[in-house]
Amino acid sequence: MAEYQTHAYDVLVIGAGGSGLRTAIEASAAGARVGVITKSLLGKAHTVMAEGGVAAALGNVDERDNWRVHFSDTMRGGQYINNWRMAELHAKEAPDRVRELEAWGAVFDRTKEGRILQRNFGGHRYPRLAHVGDRTGLEMIRTLQDHGIHQGMEVHMECTVLTLLMDGGRVAGAFGYDRERGHFLLFPAKAVVLATGGIGRAYRITSNSWEYTGDGHALAYHAGATLMDMEFVQFHPTGMVWPPSVQGILVTEGVRGEGGVLRNSHGRRFMFDDIPENYRNQTADNPEEGWRYTQGDKNARRPPELLTRDHVARCIVREIKEGRGSPHGGVYLDISWIKEKLPNSEEHIKRKLPSMYHQFKQLADIDITKEPMEIGPTTHYMMGGVRVDAETQMSSVPGLFAAGECAAGLHGANRLGGNSLSDLLVFGKRAGQYAACFAKENGDIAVDSVQVERAAREALLPFERGQKAGAEGAYQIQHDLQSMMQDLVGIVRKESEMKQALEGIQKLRERASRAGVNGNREFNNGWHTAMDLPNLLSVSEAITRAALEREESRGAHFRDDWPEKNPEYGKFNILVRQGRDGGMQITREPLAEMPHELKQVIEEMK
Ligand code: FUM
Repeated sequence: MAEYQTHAYDVLVIGAGGSGLRTAIEASAAGARVGVITKSLLGKAHTVMAEGGVAAALGNVDERDNWRVHFSDTMRGGQYINNWRMAELHAKEAPDRVRELEAWGAVFDRTKEGRILQRNFGGHRYPRLAHVGDRTGLEMIRTLQDHGIHQGMEVHMECTVLTLLMDGGRVAGAFGYDRERGHFLLFPAKAVVLATGGIGRAYRITSNSWEYTGDGHALAYHAGATLMDMEFVQFHPTGMVWPPSVQGILVTEGVRGEGGVLRNSHGRRFMFDDIPENYRNQTADNPEEGWRYTQGDKNARRPPELLTRDHVARCIVREIKEGRGSPHGGVYLDISWIKEKLPNSEEHIKRKLPSMYHQFKQLADIDITKEPMEIGPTTHYMMGGVRVDAETQMSSVPGLFAAGECAAGLHGANRLGGNSLSDLLVFGKRAGQYAACFAKENGDIAVDSVQVERAAREALLPFERGQKAGAEGAYQIQHDLQSMMQDLVGIVRKESEMKQALEGIQKLRERASRAGVNGNREFNNGWHTAMDLPNLLSVSEAITRAALEREESRGAHFRDDWPEKNPEYGKFNILVRQGRDGGMQITREPLAEMPHELKQVIEEMK
């Protein structure tokens, strides 16, 4: 019999980034007893990597902005396969969620009149990103954490969830272990909210830190929930490329929002070379107009560096592939050029982009006020995730909810920068409210000891295998998976390579099932990695199968063998669920018909 400690809750939140904390605050406020589990330490979350701002149509800098423009920008960015109801709720509720955060103590930058300052970002028609320099995510986490603690949530740090527990068809809690001591932990709960963030660690180059191994996606899938839009992985155009130890670290889009430009090795602003048809009338065709836009000229059009991330990332890849890249395999991002325009440019850059200044100075010995940065795309965000109900965030499994990056729907084929932070506020609140309500209305659950024993036994298998000669460690398997996904299911995809990846995933799965661990259970990183592997393999397979199914190019999903957008593929989402035979099943689900009023909003904005 496995030994474990038990902590019972009404609502169990798995993940303590922005969405988990916002969920916990709301569920606590509704009177639920709330437990929050984090794989890492409280305050260390990928939310802090959304540096440049939170998108909300406050209209503080440009009074033409409102929810209708934000809604239509989000739908266009997502190439119209977004869940329109989520996009509507998000655009309407984001301003209140930002103001509420301010009331809880978040200190945003200010306009001269003392209102929350907003900056330009890719794909947003007006300056819309409320920000705190380039540390917005950090300020949000700080605020939510402080507020959450005062609401009474209990936090379990450094704890990995191994499986969700079921009571009949309903979720009944989770079973996991404490990473520091290696003790098992049982969390019976009437409702569970997944807020585990993304899957970046399935790739070699990523802005995500070690925690982001698709745990929520995999837990939901194995509990019988449906995943959606898994083919859409966002490669942020600007990550560090040099030195190798910092490759992938995010360089905020805020740099381009403040006037930073992209150049190839010939010094050319290559983004002017390829403006997509649907953005042509909104995009500047000369540098001067682009500059005026970033400085707040309402009559100017945006520079092409502020097109959507999918497009900018692909243009960068093109420059590199065609031999016009920088010495370390990127291109140049230059904010220092603004000294031609602003006499106090050095001070200005340090004030607007303090983290970027320090990041490059300390990690790459580059002074961004004087010289360009070398950057390249980095795996940043997962648009795909658990398919949820738009109003409540409940998945297809009763009592199981998802919020933030691990939920799908809002962003469609491509997320606009800053929409992740507003997403987690709007839908974290909703998930907390409805999870608390579900817990209240659906009464007690029973924990099945057979499920608990099975999970404990399987978790300890790597130690048994580690005793035998020739057992492989988990690190090499993880490394091989990351390289394979980067090379075969990355920014530019094709059928033959993705089929090769599927075979590779199968082989890696076999290797993972034989992986062994030495030593004991106390802070054993080899063991932690062995426990992450099945999740990484499940999400990698889901991404690859969904990407094979979508025989077109749309948003973040680009197929070399199907380079055009196909209107037929704009009529459905791709779903992934576990089939009866235990294999992965891919289906297509037609998009719900958009109400006339929303169609009209999109038409007007065009
Ligand atoms: O570039 C950035 O600051 C990232 C923002 C985001 O992913 O939303």
